[in-house]
Amino acid sequence: MSRVAYVNGKFILLNRAQVSIEDRGYQFADGIYEVISLIERRLINLEEHLKRLEQSLSLLQISLPVKRKTLVFLINQTIQHNKVTSGIVYVQITRGVAPRSHIFPENIKSSLIISVKPYNYMNNVDGLTGEKAITFPDQRWARPNIKSIALLPNILAKQQAFKGGAFEAILVNEKGLVTEGSHSNVFIVGKEGVLKTPPATHSILDGITRQTILKLCHEDHIPIQETSFSEASLFNAEEVFLTGTTTLVKPITQINDEMIGKGEVGYLTKRIARLYRDYCFREKVEKKSEQYKYKSLAA
Ligand SMILES: Cc1ncc(COP(=O)(O)O)c(C=O)c1O
Repeated sequence: MSRVAYVNGKFILLNRAQVSIEDRGYQFADGIYEVISLIERRLINLEEHLKRLEQSLSLLQISLPVKRKTLVFLINQTIQHNKVTSGIVYVQITRGVAPRSHIFPENIKSSLIISVKPYNYMNNVDGLTGEKAITFPDQRWARPNIKSIALLPNILAKQQAFKGGAFEAILVNEKGLVTEGSHSNVFIVGKEGVLKTPPATHSILDGITRQTILKLCHEDHIPIQETSFSEASLFNAEEVFLTGTTTLVKPITQINDEMIGKGEVGYLTKRIARLYRDYCFREKVEKKSEQYKYKSLAA
């Protein structure tokens, strides 16, 4: 089936979709994005993704080109046009189109694109196997908490991981502290058995999956510390796992050439992966995001 995208007011075949060469996203990476999971017709954590999208926009002084309600409607329409039941929804907003100038143009309308591609999350859930990661210097700007489309350092890091046969690059800053992955957040279980993840400061993107895992751990009485840790603690950890919207919970059992813990998927990783899977796959979700079930918007 041909894919359809929403581009600035129109639904259009993806292979015909175009933006102006003077779109500031294209020229300056002057924009932000969100990636949302659609699992069995449900948009997971939609409310949280919208909130983060609005935060990123506000930090860059870009306005949402449509009302929030309309954005939700357009996301659901894009899903319907593509007849996708499980997939990855991509929303991008840039400052808009204007003659190239570093200064923010006045009276500019921001650009909005939405696309969706099918994705089978079950592949990530069944048979939880350990993956390899590499460590890589965190060479990003000082505001990774903004979900900016400027991802060059992230893709360079991920490419290095890919070349080394690894799933992800875990970023380490100039102080020797672990920040996050190129597209994921990092959790470790230390030698003392305590689950840790770096705090949600300006140095990381506060992942929606990360936030959900923190809530699930709290509900399940799993102690967890939001605290910085060094590269050495990463290598000495009993367990390491990564989280992200499409990554879900990914166990890491090898980093560079070193085995993590016993080189197997650990107890807490399995337990948290199961909690998160149940959270995403449970049929009845009492959360607000359920109200956006796209079927209900079909009329
Ligand atoms: C740098 C970075 N950190 C963390 C994440 C995980 O965020 P989320 O759980 O919201 O997908 C992502 C996701 O793309 C990311 O790009």
